[in-house]
Amino acid sequence: MTQDEMKKAAATKALEYIKNDTIVGVGTGSTVNYFIDALATIKHNIVGAVSSSEESSKRLKAHGIEVFDLNNVDVLDVYVDGADEITKHMSMIKGGGAALTREKIVAAVAKQFICIADDSKQVEILGNFPLPVEVIPMARSYVARELVKLGGDPEYRQGVITDNGNVILDVHNLSIINPKKLEADINAIVGVVTNGLFANRGADILILVGENGVNVKQ
Ligand code: A5P
Repeated sequence: MTQDEMKKAAATKALEYIKNDTIVGVGTGSTVNYFIDALATIKHNIVGAVSSSEESSKRLKAHGIEVFDLNNVDVLDVYVDGADEITKHMSMIKGGGAALTREKIVAAVAKQFICIADDSKQVEILGNFPLPVEVIPMARSYVARELVKLGGDPEYRQGVITDNGNVILDVHNLSIINPKKLEADINAIVGVVTNGLFANRGADILILVGENGVNVKQ
């Protein structure tokens, strides 16, 4: 299987967790794009979706799936999203696509987070993938200095503005032994909107696809 075939297989498997007549939380990224395409095949069974990015909203609408404002949704059973890295404890790094803040908000509302990924995303320790941090533009240099104090090497993601009008610092060279603590510590820096560690609210179900096929962990 190619990596794209693995992503597609994980996305297709996630359909089994979608209940009829519900609104589905939808993440962002190349794996989720396969999920959106798969969701389109059962669009008449669902009410619609809540989206974590303009990019995903556009794709959902192109398939004729209604996209709801999260403020108008009381119950979200599942949120389906990819990850840049995930551990066996279901902690993740996300935000490679710069959608981390909206992803974290929709994930917080959902009862279940279903992570879909190919097995290249599974790691022992988080941090090889640079940790994205969304920052209010005027705080960029200050936040970067504070991130250095935490042992990281922040790099400004040039030319990227998030859907919320902010900028991204990608933090290199972190060996993340305690993801829950680091998530909280970075979020406590003034000027940080949020960071891409999903540890305090990690995944509930992992659909991981490798050469040996589809594996589900929960
Ligand atoms: C988007 O901001 C990210 O959190 C994505 O979920 C993550 O980067 C995974 O993307 P791919 O499915 O494209 O690898």
